[in-house]
Amino acid sequence: MTGARELTEGDIVQITDDRGRHHTVILQAGASFHTHRGSISHDDLLGRPEGIVVTSSGGTPYVALRSLLEDYVLSMPRGAAVIYPKDSGRIATLTGLRPGWSVLEAGAGSGALTCTLLQTVGPTGRVVSCERRPDFADTARANVTRWFTALPETWTLHVGDLADRPWGDDGPFDAVVLDMLDPWEHVDTVAAVLRPGGVLVAYVATTTQLSRIAESLRADGRWTEPRAEESLVRTWHLEGLAVRPDHRMIGHTGFLLAARRLAEGTVAPARRRRPARGTQGAAGA
Ligand SMILES: C[S@@+](CC[C@H](N)C(=O)[O-])C[C@H]1O[C@@H](n2cnc3c(N)ncnc32)[C@H](O)[C@@H]1O
Repeated sequence: MTGARELTEGDIVQITDDRGRHHTVILQAGASFHTHRGSISHDDLLGRPEGIVVTSSGGTPYVALRSLLEDYVLSMPRGAAVIYPKDSGRIATLTGLRPGWSVLEAGAGSGALTCTLLQTVGPTGRVVSCERRPDFADTARANVTRWFTALPETWTLHVGDLADRPWGDDGPFDAVVLDMLDPWEHVDTVAAVLRPGGVLVAYVATTTQLSRIAESLRADGRWTEPRAEESLVRTWHLEGLAVRPDHRMIGHTGFLLAARRLAEGTVAPARRRRPARGTQGAAGA
């Protein structure tokens, strides 16, 4: 078959049994992977194309495919909670990130979003991450290194607080992503390093955080009107005529707020809003 890339040492491979249960394996010559349905020798996979079926010593067939980033993120070790693939994909779109662009993120947490950002800006781009907890920074470094098989040269991880601006003279950035409890505390810091037109995305878990970051950006005045959204992904059961939404889904991860940096000295025109019915009391009724 043309285009097949053989499996090699260090590849992150997902093996899936006939019930759809999967395991993640990092290939290493001479090693074995043990399941409760027998073991699989890595040597049975090395040098072979992905998409093959290998049989465990217990006789169970497994499909072997290189993990997609989505699979990897959900299986990798975590320190802090990760940004789910449904949200990181949306962050890449909301920020407008392109190959060659630079992006600042805080906190790096487990490095899940970092992997998406690095992949999106590519080998000519740059990702600067900030993480104040050294133990989480270690997890992020290990996860990112494992995914890219080496520490990407396009990535700088600062172990420190975003407020201390540890990136020094690095910047301005094309985009900034904040995933932390109190992004509203860092509006000034971000405004100082985001280029005009650049997008700030804040990922927050609760409506109170969402309100606070939105009002802080409005009060700061250097931003376009913030927009907010959440995404719900509902997977489907597909079997014969039984085609319906799955019974279970991830009900809530977080909200995404996006706003763009205005040019220095620009004051956004006051937003004219029609008051929503019922919000004005007797006088406005
Ligand atoms: C939910 S985690 C981030 C997860 C990450 N986005 C991922 O996908 O793996 C939030 C992280 O922000 C870090 N953090 C919170 N406030 C910070 C600050 N002011 N400066 C740097 N890191 C901060 C926390 O230590 C924590 O690791």
